This record gives sequence, structure tokens and C-alpha cells, in this order.
Amino acid sequence: MEATATAAASVNGHGPAPIKGLPPGPRMGRVPQTAIWSRRAQWLLEQSRARFGPMFSLKIAYEGDWVVISDPELVKQVFTGDPKVFHAGEGNQILRPILGENSVLVLDEKKHIGQRKLLLPPFHGERMQAYAEKMTEISAREIESWPTGVPYKLRPRMQAITLEIIIETVFGVHDEERMAPLREALRDFLDLTTNPRVLMPVLMVGPERVNLIPAFRRRVERVDRLIAAVIGERRDAEDLAERDDVLSMMLQARHEDDSPMSDAEIRDELLTLLVAGHETTATALSWAMERLTRHPEKLERLRAEVEAGEDAYLTATVQETLRLRPVIVVVVRKLTEAVELGGYELPAGARVTPCIHLIHRDPQIYPEPERFLPERFLDNPPGTYTWIPFGGGVRRCLGAAFAQFEMAVVLRELVRRYEITPATPASERPYRRAITETPRHDATVVLN
Ligand code: HEM
Repeated sequence: MEATATAAASVNGHGPAPIKGLPPGPRMGRVPQTAIWSRRAQWLLEQSRARFGPMFSLKIAYEGDWVVISDPELVKQVFTGDPKVFHAGEGNQILRPILGENSVLVLDEKKHIGQRKLLLPPFHGERMQAYAEKMTEISAREIESWPTGVPYKLRPRMQAITLEIIIETVFGVHDEERMAPLREALRDFLDLTTNPRVLMPVLMVGPERVNLIPAFRRRVERVDRLIAAVIGERRDAEDLAERDDVLSMMLQARHEDDSPMSDAEIRDELLTLLVAGHETTATALSWAMERLTRHPEKLERLRAEVEAGEDAYLTATVQETLRLRPVIVVVVRKLTEAVELGGYELPAGARVTPCIHLIHRDPQIYPEPERFLPERFLDNPPGTYTWIPFGGGVRRCLGAAFAQFEMAVVLRELVRRYEITPATPASERPYRRAITETPRHDATVVLN
């Protein structure tokens, strides 16, 4: 094999000839595979890995053929492969009517890189301090309002925190009069992307015609009106240059030809950041608490270190949560041409899916992979191709630093304030909601 994935056409003939076609996979048909995938993805992945090795095929409805890979070397080849060949945006077309045609999530190649560059500055790791105060204030306010002594579902509350943080740090809206209608419209809009009853019609009529459904169009139009008002007002703000919210930075960003972003581009990217960053971070936070409450000694260590002003164990806890309970189990790249990978010549049109779940459960990489052990990251920082909760390469999650910073802030505020115990006897299992794997009982705990 060559060090990077090469288009089959350019392979020079050294070594054994690759096998043309897809690697083997479970024999059952597309419908039962899809049903198992949506209910017990982890089980299907583990069984297939045990039977077929680090590269196998799955047939998932609406998705075509998936080639699931779980070897870090192969993952590296995909993440560093030519973006012209490995398309991620094409796999997200279902989001186009919701997020718009400029969304960084639905684009590929030049257009994708163009939008991504415009969005990068506010998401650089070192910029996170600018958001620290707001994040802390929002978390503290929310957490202090929680009831004690009764079973309490954390997931919806984590969603409230992550939404509030996005409204203030991404949209830069702070006064309650503006926030209240925006909050309500955004919640309603988010339902479009997470509620399977809403997503189903999108799948059935197809992304091109979904705007013909009045209930769908009304929700999108309502949010569009509110966002247009926020953008218009911000363009005229006298303090625009000093503001550090993401919207204000987008208004100052310039394309390569020096032109500013249009209102339509800004609208699409604001909603993209909302959809990509809200549910994911809330779910990861719920898992962190679900795992910590099942391991009281780890929770105690975390509290002691946080109270002593230390961050190392907090960072390791965030990393271990994202390893053991990754919010998303695979990322997808659709091949625009045939590609040689792992001894196969995969056909154009196939979707290669680096498998976050399997890589994170590999005992060669993580001894005792089922155990929740933040300690494993204390001396060993996560590897680029062995710790991939945020995907990788030119498509790596733009909000990875933001999300980890936010998780640390919220966990710090929470463990400092309460004794926290689980409300149910057994560990919560993963439960799929749209695309995220959430704790089955929404991380139900008792605070004291
Ligand atoms: C724990 C929380 C999060 C997780 C687990 C997560 C995970 C991911 C994953 C797996 C991808 C796809 C990467 C790939 O295909 O290689 C992604 C993409 C993306 N995420 Fe996140 N994400 C999180 C939070 C956020 C936040 C907070 C934001 C922004 C505020 C964000 C913005 C994005 C964007 C814009 C993309 C598309 C990048 C591109 O296509 O170039 N994410 N995320």
C-alpha cells in the first residue's frame, strides 16, 4: 500500500493487485441492516468487525454502500486523502434545504475550503478565553436553578445550556427581549434536524422539494426573519470591530477576492454552527455525567482537582468521555472516483466511513477499552488517528476546541456545586436520536 490513498487509476502496479469491489460484510439485506443500524449500531459494528476484520461493508438505506474502516493507518489515508476524491458534503445533502446551499457542511472541494476559511478565525483554540466568562455565567445560572433530592434528567438541561451559549457567543445576542423570540424559533428549527418524524418527510420527498411542505417552510421562514434582523442590526453596530462573537467576526471576514460574506452565507453558517454544535455538545456533556456518576471515585477526584484549580483531570475526563461514548459513531466520505484502499479497489460512489466507535474500542490502542479511565489521557495525549470523536482532515469539526472548552466549563460549574448520584441502578445504554448516540434515560441523576 502507498502511504496515502491514491486514485486507482494512478496505482503503478507494484505489490499484489487490489481486489476490485467492496470488502465482505453481513449477508442480510439492506432493510434489516438499516433497522439494526438505527437501534443497535454499536452491536452491528462490533459483530461485523469481529467477523470481517478492520474493513467491511454495510448496506444502509438512503446511504448506499458503506465501507467501514477501523484501522488507524486506513483512517489516516482517508483523512489525508484528496478532498476532490473524498467528498463529505455530498453525504450531507439532506441538510441542504434546512441549512442552505452555502453551509460548510453540504459543500465540497473549493467551495467548502472557501467557507471553512471564513469560519476558522473565531474557532482557533487560543480564542476560547474570549468566551470563557459568558460560558461560565450561563452554566452557573442554569445549574443553580436545578432541583435537589429528586431524579432529574440532565440531557434537556444540557441542551438549554448549549443553546444559550450559542445564542450569546455565536450570534452575540445578549438582551432578553431579542433572545426570547430567537431562542424559541431556534428550538423549533432544531426540531427539524433532530426529530425523526420531521426528517422522514425530507427523506421521502427529497431535499429539492421539501420546501413545498408548508409546515416545513413556515419554520424555516420564521427563523430566517429573526436572523435577518440580527444580521442587519449587527452590520450597523458601531462597536463591530471590537466585538468577539462569531457573527461579528463573520461580518468582518473577507473572501479571497476581498468581498465580504453575503447575508445568505452568514445565515447559512450561523444555522450550521447551531445544528452542528448544540445537540452534539449537550449529548457529550450528558455522557460525561452519566459515566462520572457510575464511577464515584473518579467524580471525587475530578471535584478535588477542580476545587484545587487544576485542569488536567478535567481535560482527561472530557477526552475519555468522547472516546468511550462518542456522540457520532462514523464519519462519511463519498468517493468521486475509484480508490485503492486496504487491498481493495473501491468503486466510485461507495462511501468510506472511518469508524469512531471501533477505533476507540480497539484494545491494541486502548487497553481495557470498555473501562472509563480518564487517567489514560493524563500522560498520553490523544492521537490524531486513534482519537477521532471530531473526525479529521480538512473536514475535522470546526468546533472541536470550542466544544471541549465548553464541556470543561460546564462540568467544572456542576461538580463544584452538587453531590451527584445516578437515579437508575444500571448504566445507561446508547440510544440513537437522529444522528447522535444519547444516554437511554437522558442521564438521570439526583443532585444534593
Ligand atoms: C462534543 C461536541 C461535538 C462533536 C462530538 C462534534 C463532532 C463532529 C464530527 C464528527 C464532524 C464531522 C467531521 C468529519 O467528517 O471528519 C463535525 C463537523 C463539524 N462540526 Fe462538530 N462536533 C461537536 C461540536 C461542534 C461545535 C460546538 C461546533 C460549532 C459551534 C461544531 C461545528 C462543526 C462544523 C461547522 C462541522 C463541519 C466541518 C466541515 O465540514 O468542514 N461542532 N463535528
